[in-house]
Amino acid sequence: MPDLHTDVAIVGAGPAGLMLAHLLHAAGIDSVVIDNRSRDDIAATHRAGILEAASVRMLETPGIDSRVHSAGHRHDGIDVRVDGISHPLDFPSLVGESVWLYPQNEAFVDLAAARARTGSPTFYSVTDTRLADIDSTSPSVRAVTEDGEQLSISARYVVGADGSRSPSRASIPEASRQRFFHEYPFAWFGILCQAPPSHEVLIYSRSDRGFALISQRSADVQRMYFQADPGTDPDDWSDDRIWTELQARVAGPDGFELKTGPITDKVVLPFRSAVTEPMQHGSLFLAGDSAHTVPPTGAKGLNLAFADVAVLAPALVAALRDSDAEALARYSTTATKRVWKAQNFSYQMTRMLHTDPTADAFETKRSLGELTSLLDSEHGRRYLAECYTGWPHG
Ligand code: PHB
Repeated sequence: MPDLHTDVAIVGAGPAGLMLAHLLHAAGIDSVVIDNRSRDDIAATHRAGILEAASVRMLETPGIDSRVHSAGHRHDGIDVRVDGISHPLDFPSLVGESVWLYPQNEAFVDLAAARARTGSPTFYSVTDTRLADIDSTSPSVRAVTEDGEQLSISARYVVGADGSRSPSRASIPEASRQRFFHEYPFAWFGILCQAPPSHEVLIYSRSDRGFALISQRSADVQRMYFQADPGTDPDDWSDDRIWTELQARVAGPDGFELKTGPITDKVVLPFRSAVTEPMQHGSLFLAGDSAHTVPPTGAKGLNLAFADVAVLAPALVAALRDSDAEALARYSTTATKRVWKAQNFSYQMTRMLHTDPTADAFETKRSLGELTSLLDSEHGRRYLAECYTGWPHG
């Protein structure tokens, strides 16, 4: 039975957990990382594909050897289409920043390889994960390894980076945490297809038929989504029906046409907003989706997770190396400020771009007024560009 002693036990080997492990390792702090998924399963998890410049800078730190520049693509803006009229937002001229199209699973592959090169203990496919003594200064994590061995990790701190259904979060007594939650009356129907890109940048489209997002993956694979009822069965949608619907949602007087091709993946993604506060209890700290989920409309999920870790890593280093726990004590306050900005932006983008089947005609017109107020104003466009490209870390 492996009995491990470490500085930080990290539950969750997704991008948040592994980025944290990397930053700690770079500062000479040991960690043990565990995850109940296999490395292949995590690598196959499709999530949003947009990285803020600050997230890219984190992937550029020595030791990661990320392919973000060779396999990713810089995007200097997005196109917001309203009833078929294009409103390009040029990020460099508005806010002096860009974003990168680099799917989350690629970031994971980079980080998992970096972790493996350090030779530090990392256990995928564990079962029965349990946190103990998080109220004390000697917490521990137990799990069963893939080979059926009991694993016991004692640490000074535990970080729960274990996703939206976080078992770590559940180990915080209910009276000590508050959950803020919002559900939306629609979902996204997402596809992967074999086709060339339809446009240089992502298109976020609002139309009477509902929202559509024309995203990309590579020169010959594209990702697209359209707003659908959460109860939609993907099997009811033939390729022809999907292309007709997507095309109808982006059609306009400019004659814009999507480049189509065989659809290789169909999925319906319900979405919601949730935040747990505080993001800490005793010796346990939450990072990424375990503390907050955002609707995908603003592509903030992974960026928020990296932003948490950008604050948490130096705070853990100061506490462990310099016995200065002040930044750690401020972690939740610092991180949640950015979380709520991202919640607001994701909510606002969602509300402005989707048609709400439960709303009255007044609300539909009002949200159009909100969108055109922003798009018709230089200040408004700059605001959207600032939110999309992201706020400074920490
Ligand atoms: C994606 O490419 O999957 C994607 C991009 C931008 C979003 C959401 C999803 O806002």
